[in-house]
Amino acid sequence: MAEKRRKLVIATGNTGKLREYRELLASAGLELIAFDTEIDEVGETYTENARLKAETAVERSGLPALGDDSGVEVEALEGFPGIRSARLGPTQEERTAELLKRLEGKPRPWNARFVCVLALADPGHPTQFFEGECRGEIVPEWRGEAGFGYDPVFLVPGTGKTFGEMRLEEKRLYSHRARAVRALLESGALGRLSV
Ligand code: IMP
Repeated sequence: MAEKRRKLVIATGNTGKLREYRELLASAGLELIAFDTEIDEVGETYTENARLKAETAVERSGLPALGDDSGVEVEALEGFPGIRSARLGPTQEERTAELLKRLEGKPRPWNARFVCVLALADPGHPTQFFEGECRGEIVPEWRGEAGFGYDPVFLVPGTGKTFGEMRLEEKRLYSHRARAVRALLESGALGRLSV
């Protein structure tokens, strides 16, 4: 009889992120279940918000869950928008436009980094955290249609491309989310899930 695959809930309602997690975790041999907790991100840090999403998903599903929080931090704006990256405006287009407006007139390069914190919550066990970052530069012109969020204005050093110009397989070589997932996979924690 075929062995039943373990289930892991991915606590996000963001389809761009979900696509990336499905690709990044494809080799883990788990059944991935998307679940939007629709909670307000009330935490003061990526870690608090990631924990909130993962633990809420565990409470509601009874299954192990992965929650994440991410954002882009711009040096010339003292790390803004950071954990507020999803709240700069009602649509992503407006959020990107708002970010570029705040950078207008500031000397380039507009150095920035993406950050992703993953929380793995497993019923009956302490929640574990994994982090990844990707350094790069915000550019004023929108380039590429791929990805999501601020991808079209985030230039990756040494590649000549924004994330908006990269396919998933290329973005995963550099991205904050891919690095956090790598740390999670290397920890062996997914092989020790309780359910
Ligand atoms: P949250 O993690 O749900 O709070 O959302 C973080 C926000 O940061 C997203 O809505 C995007 O705007 C932005 N963001 C996070 N990761 C990425 C990425 O890989 N590419 C582009 N934008 C991202």
